[in-house]
Amino acid sequence: MRANGWTRIAVTSATPGCGKTTAACNLIAGLGRQPELRGMLFDLDLRRPSVAKLLHSNPKSSLADVLSGEVEFEEQALRLHENTCISMTTEPVPDPSKLVLSSRTADLFDRIHDQYRPHLMLFDTPPVLLSDETRGFLKTVDAVLIMAAAETNTVSQIDEVEREVAQYTNVAGIVLNKCRFMEDNYSYSYSY
Ligand SMILES: Nc1ncnc2c1ncn2[C@@H]1O[C@H](COP(=O)(O)OP(=O)(O)O)[C@@H](O)[C@H]1O
Ligand SMILES: [Mg+2]
Repeated sequence: MRANGWTRIAVTSATPGCGKTTAACNLIAGLGRQPELRGMLFDLDLRRPSVAKLLHSNPKSSLADVLSGEVEFEEQALRLHENTCISMTTEPVPDPSKLVLSSRTADLFDRIHDQYRPHLMLFDTPPVLLSDETRGFLKTVDAVLIMAAAETNTVSQIDEVEREVAQYTNVAGIVLNKCRFMEDNYSYSYSY
């Protein structure tokens, strides 16, 4: 990211359940251990928000309220570490296209970027093939991390996501997630 000058990264996948939210939370938690870096996580999977659930958090207001202008980002986002914060979504938003693709949303993320100069703005998003607003939103990020679930996603699904994302922005990489742990292989390589 540093080499490419990227700060805004979206995490997406072909289908739900590939590990986007888990990976996004782990990334922000990892960044929290690097005090020289500042990071922010936004739960932009407004149809199926799950960051709050994963973190066992119950924020008073939602990122959706910030996007609609009802609440200030500064009041809504919660600090995870000294150098990280998370803007969670509390309830599913049935039709989030207008909210996500509005010029107010673009201006808001630009303003946050200019004001706080984060090294990472990470966006948890819906599966790209299932959501038109994700496609539109991807134009505004620097790069996308694609999560693929082993034994669930087909190679053609992953190809399709990669092609789709590449139309809008850079593909940072594809993570093959949920690989089964092979105990036999482990014991062979580490047996004495
Ligand atoms: N590397 C992994 N190995 C095993 N299970 C995983 C892994 N990553 C995520 N999961 C599990 O898969 C489920 C879906 O993960 P989640 O992060 O909510 O996916 P998404 O946000 O893409 O819908 C959760 O139960 C999560 O704990
Ligand atoms: Mg999720």
